[in-house]
This record gives sequence, structure tokens and C-alpha cells, in this order.
Amino acid sequence: MGAIAVIGLHWGDEGKGRIVDLLVKDCNGVVRYNGGPNAGHTLVVNGETFKLHLIPSGILHRDKINVIGNGVIIDPKVLLEEIDELKGRGFFNGKLYISDRAPILFPYHKIIDELEESFRGSFSLGTTKRGVGPGYTDEINRSGLRMIDLFSDSFEEKLKRVWDLKVKISPCLDGKVNIEDVIEDYKGYIEYLKSYTTDTISLLHDLLAQGKRVLLEGAQGFLLDIDFGTYPYVSSSSSSIGGIFSGSGINPKQLEKIFGVVKAYMTRVGAGPFPTELKDDTGNYLRERGREYGTTTGRPRRCGWLDCVATKYSCIINGVDGIYITKLDVLGGLSEVKVCIGYEYEGERLYSFPSSLEILENCKPIYERFPGWNIEGNELPPNAKSYLKFIEDFLDTKILGVSIGPEREAFIDLC
Ligand code: GDP
Ligand code: IMO
Ligand code: MG
Repeated sequence: MGAIAVIGLHWGDEGKGRIVDLLVKDCNGVVRYNGGPNAGHTLVVNGETFKLHLIPSGILHRDKINVIGNGVIIDPKVLLEEIDELKGRGFFNGKLYISDRAPILFPYHKIIDELEESFRGSFSLGTTKRGVGPGYTDEINRSGLRMIDLFSDSFEEKLKRVWDLKVKISPCLDGKVNIEDVIEDYKGYIEYLKSYTTDTISLLHDLLAQGKRVLLEGAQGFLLDIDFGTYPYVSSSSSSIGGIFSGSGINPKQLEKIFGVVKAYMTRVGAGPFPTELKDDTGNYLRERGREYGTTTGRPRRCGWLDCVATKYSCIINGVDGIYITKLDVLGGLSEVKVCIGYEYEGERLYSFPSSLEILENCKPIYERFPGWNIEGNELPPNAKSYLKFIEDFLDTKILGVSIGPEREAFIDLC
């Protein structure tokens, strides 16, 4: 027994939450290790839809524990709202553990995020404006506060010190926030959050030592990783395999399996290169049929064909043992389906994922074409099987299961 990782291999929204919700039944709990309220994981259970931002996707199972690891940046207000909503709907089991080392977001992080996006003008990144980039920047710059600080007697003094520094460096922030009000609001969160906050590193090591199994739920997707993604059009955390160790405190020897989540086509919210993007009727078809609108911001997601070159890059770096394909049903009804197997740039053919944004933005995808299909019931038609077989061979990675609808039951196990 050990830890099992579930990592999105695209630009987020692959359907990680619904796969975690399925796999958690064989585990004792779920751990989030990166990202913050920028994430949005949607689960559909018994006809009810749940949208989670900070709470791990194991929460709908009453017997499972849910851990928010030290790599997750916490907006206490969002977290309280999420807990309250789950409580109100009768789905909060109380088995929530928040790392005392987790960094905290403050209202000024959101303001900085919004200001930076507007100052970037036509070069804006299309962030979720949840303050996540500025929050992690403060952590790296050693100007952040952590959950443990919130409960300390020196919380007020520490926050004022940080705020003074911020206003000195960025005078345009002056007058944008009343820090006394922020202190009051955050003190109000203490009582509510204290009972859930603990040393999650010891908790996880104890569980693993007892032979228990935990599932590590990635947020964002590998192509949004701060180091390996399409920089600067990325998020500000490690959504790759490395983020598991820095964001949860478990060690590599405790990781038993690594699973990737791959959408049957590709989507992206926000700016940045997307070689296989479809800006035509087929793109609109995928958006409407797949309900591709952001879980966190409601923005329409950009849609395109599956890019196997980018996905293979993700598989290799994360060392995945197998993948889950999601949303195969959405491709149904198309006469032809395409998969990108390489790129053409200035007369040259490229078969690996380029680091240059210029190449990614201007290359022409080389496609393999497949006849379409329609899925009825839980049977995969032969054309859909050929499509999956091609992906499996190209990625050299076993497909462990396929989802064909948002509901828990709309899943075909191929193990
Ligand atoms: P995550 O961020 O990776 O957890 O993914 P999101 O929840 O943001 O986006 C995935 C969306 O697709 C959600 O609205 C899911 O309910 C939905 N979904 C997941 N799997 C399937 C599927 O197999 N078919 C369809 N049609 N929708 C799905
Ligand atoms: P889940 O966990 C999709 C994108 C934003 C933007 C970029 C930077 O639901 O898959 P940020 O607010 O993080 O500074 O924005 O990253 N982004 C996501 N896109 N799904 C997510 O999370 C995302 N989290 C961030 O749209 O392009
Ligand atoms: Mg999402």
C-alpha cells in the first residue's frame, strides 16, 4: 500500500475530480498538493453537481479523509464558503485536515492579480484573478503568511509588516485595502479553521506507515506547470509530479502508482499557445456538447483536437503508469476525428514538444484522421476503440478506463 497520484496531463479541466471520485473508493483519503482557489473540480453524483475549489474530491465519500497539503494556497473565505455549502447539502464529513504550513491568500493578492492583468494589456495571461500568482510570489519572496501564522499571537504584527513592505514597493496599492479590516476578517476565520488545521505531514506519514492508501489529487494540468508548461502562460505552482513531494511532504519511495488524466480532445482557459485549437464550428460543437465553460470563472474554454505530442511530453516527464481518457462521448456525432502527431514549422517537421512559444503559436499540426462514432449505452463502438488504440500506442501508455458522461456511473473500466 502507498500513495497513488492523479495528474492532469493537459492545461487543466481534464476531469481529474471525477476520476479521483471514482478511484478513492479503494483508498483511505485524498490529498490536494498544489494550486488554490483557481482550481475547479466538478463532480456529478446522483444527479447532483458539486464544484470544488480547495476541498479534495474525496469529500463526497463519508468515510474518507481529505487533506489540503502544504503546497496548496488557501483563501480562507473560499474555503469557509465551500465547507458551508457542503454542510448545507449534507456532504461534509468533518474529516478535513489542512496543513499548518499552507500559505494564505489575502485580499490584496486578488487586487494585485487584477491590476497586473490590466497592466499587461494585450499580453494578459487570462488568470482566474483569484490572487494565486501574487500569493505564491509572496511565499517564494518570503513575504507570505502560513496557516500556522494565522493562529499565532503575532499574526496582526506579521501581516502589518508584510503590508507596509507591499505598499512601499507598490505605491499603487496604497488605499486599496484597509488592513485593519483584513485583520478583523481573518481573526474571524481562526475559530472556524483551527480545528481542521494540523501537521498533515505527520498525519500522512502515519497513515502510510499503517499500510493505508492515499490518493494525491493534482490541480491544474501539467502543461500549466510553472517549470514545464507553456511559460509564461502557466499557473504559479508545480502541477507536475514534483509538486507532490514539495506540496504534501510524502517522499518518492511512498508513491506506488502515477495515473494521468487525458481529455479525448483538448481545452484551455486563458491565453497561451494551443496548436490544435479549433476556431470553427467543430470547436463550437465541442464546447457546447462538452459544456466547456470554466468551473471557477465561467469563461468559455478554447477547444481543439487531442495533441498527442504535448500529451506524450506530459506522460514522459510525469512517468505515468497508465491514463484515464475522459469525455469520449463529446466526440460522438462528428464525421471525422483528428489527433495531432507532430508539427510543421518553417518547412520542418517536429515530433517533440517545443519550448519556444513562437513555434507553438505558429506551427501547423500534422494530423492522423479517424472516422467518427456515436456512443450508445456503455458499449464502445469499433471506431472509438480504434481511436483509443491509436492513442495508447502513440503514448506507449495503457488506457485504464474511459469516461463517457459526467455522472459517476458513466465510466468504462478497461483494467
Ligand atoms: P477538473 O478540473 O480536471 O476536475 O475538470 P473540471 O471539473 O473542471 O471539468 C471537467 C468537466 O467535464 C466537468 O464539468 C465534468 O462534470 C465534466 N465531465 C467529466 N467527465 C465527463 C465525461 O466523460 N463526459 C462528459 N460529457 N462530461 C464529463
Ligand atoms: P483545474 O484544477 C484550467 C489557468 C488560467 C490561466 C492560467 C493562470 O480546474 O484543472 P492563475 O489564476 O492560476 O494564475 O491562471 O492558468 N488555470 C486553469 N485552467 N483549469 C484549472 O484548474 C486552472 N487553474 C489555472 O485559466 O490561463
Ligand atoms: Mg477544472
